[in-house]
Amino acid sequence: MCGIVGYVGNAQAAPFLLDGMSKLEYRGYDSAGIAVYEKDGIRVEKCVGRLDALRHKLEGKMPVGTMGIGHTRWATHGRPSDRNSHPHTDESGNFVVVHNGIIENYLMLKEQLIAKGQKFASDTDTEIVAHLFADFYEGDMEEAVKKVLRTIEGSYSLVFMCKAEPDKLICTKKDNPLIIGLGEGENFIASDIPAIIAKTRRTYIMSDGEIATVTREGVWVQDINGTPITKKVFEVNWNAEAAEKGGFEHFMLKEIYEQPKAIKDTMRGRLAENGTEINFAELGWTAEDFTGISKIFIVACGTAYHAGIVGKYYLENLARIPVEVDIASEFRYRNPLVDANCLTIVISQSGETIDTLAALKEAKRLGSRTLAVTNVVGSSIAREADQVVYTYAGPEIAVASTKAYTTQLLVMLMLAVYVGRLRGTLSEAKAAELAEGLHKVPEQLHDMLENVDQIKVFARNYGSCLDAFFLGRSLDYAVALEGALKLKEISYIHAEAYAAGELKHGTLALIVEGVPVIVLATQEDVYDKTVSNLQEVKAREAMVIAIALEGDDSIAKYADHVIYIPRAGKELAPLLAVLPLQLLAYYAALTRGCDVDKPRNLAKSVTVE
Ligand code: G6P
Repeated sequence: MCGIVGYVGNAQAAPFLLDGMSKLEYRGYDSAGIAVYEKDGIRVEKCVGRLDALRHKLEGKMPVGTMGIGHTRWATHGRPSDRNSHPHTDESGNFVVVHNGIIENYLMLKEQLIAKGQKFASDTDTEIVAHLFADFYEGDMEEAVKKVLRTIEGSYSLVFMCKAEPDKLICTKKDNPLIIGLGEGENFIASDIPAIIAKTRRTYIMSDGEIATVTREGVWVQDINGTPITKKVFEVNWNAEAAEKGGFEHFMLKEIYEQPKAIKDTMRGRLAENGTEINFAELGWTAEDFTGISKIFIVACGTAYHAGIVGKYYLENLARIPVEVDIASEFRYRNPLVDANCLTIVISQSGETIDTLAALKEAKRLGSRTLAVTNVVGSSIAREADQVVYTYAGPEIAVASTKAYTTQLLVMLMLAVYVGRLRGTLSEAKAAELAEGLHKVPEQLHDMLENVDQIKVFARNYGSCLDAFFLGRSLDYAVALEGALKLKEISYIHAEAYAAGELKHGTLALIVEGVPVIVLATQEDVYDKTVSNLQEVKAREAMVIAIALEGDDSIAKYADHVIYIPRAGKELAPLLAVLPLQLLAYYAALTRGCDVDKPRNLAKSVTVE
């Protein structure tokens, strides 16, 4: 997984490439490089480390030229190092490539090329693409690229540049994202919109198998057989500012504060503004659509998987359909019992997670109907699924997902209400009660965000701990999983979430004096049992922070500290309860001096298996 950019126009290429790459660092940041077409040939500059290391290297000797490509890397084949950084070239340095993805048959191809006497300078899979490109080139870049594509197997977004054709970039993709930004006298290529949004909002979203010739005059797209393809312009409806930090210290904090808006945007058009009807016009489902559906699978990774666990609860309770939730990388290889009587819902913020995409393809292959819940319009998962419901969280840049999670919960709840009403398993009165509750959520989140001082103090006091535990029952358990993940991801504190009733079956052995235990107690039907479990850990002298409903004074007798959330009702509580957990993780990470937006070893969009 990596970020790629390209520029051809009349301005200097290098400044755009570096700026665009900085917007794509969420896709990987272990090394960076650019190639610029200079007067005497193509100059490649690259080095291991963050983009700043490359900037530093280029100080006072920026490449000069109006066409170039760039890459920010997250290593898969070949450890992060100068020589493994992209761009990669053939031996002559005249054929240059940047790549996002994995060339699966690269070893075999590399052996063949070595047998022909070619020498390789890196351990990457990508370098063979540059060699093949050079090998196949007979005066026509497009034809050489087509031959490369007929030879390689795997996943890729690729941009090609060649000394013999000074004003042209070629790009193509399969299973990895790629967009083209359309300018005046200049055009842009990127893995994602934030890289080009400062320059243009007019884009082409590339589909698998399309090959684009990009010059300063225009963009021409064809398939591998040379059939021209007419692309529709996709107008980006969010602006450069939306992709920037907007005054917050970190993207993560900004995104936490954007949750009221993200919730509102995701409800819009689906929950009547002044009413209680929930409808998904984009799905247009009827009761008949569910007559043959005996099971729903929810498949996702990371935070989206945790949203799926909450979604299972919603769908089973409100729509009364059995639901299985799977981690995408497991689903694909466990021979799941999926058939035409199943609906498979994949959840993915980016819409590009390769495990989720592969699981989606597997579900389709087995005959399941498929639905994607994703945040990125035109993403691979959105295009692959039979139907799509978008979360409208806006671009999420911080690696740790926050606003995407809450909008995923919202979509799953609204879907469950919608299906429950269609199937007649949910009363009109209960649906109306939930809808009325949903209308209040943005304001409730907003109010909670006004009062975070207490959370900052807790995070400061307990930020030095080695372990933390998160407990809850029912929906609180599902939210506890996400709370623990947030803390692990960004503060590197070891954290585990447990179903509160399960703790005594083993993990209670780890509870000793002073260990922070965050107990969620927002589910009234299991409240007493949860409080008993809270007392079990308190008896072992744990330091307990309870997340409880406003007005619950009795819990303060048992917990060391209480963070209150508004009384919103059982199903809505997760949307609110997760907020203090996100903030606890954020401020704990700050206390520990961690790189909040770019935690070590992680990347935002994981496009490798
Ligand atoms: C990565 C990110 C996680 C994210 C997961 C799934 O691991 O670091 O934050 O939850 O991918 O991403 P998706 O885009 O499919 O929701």
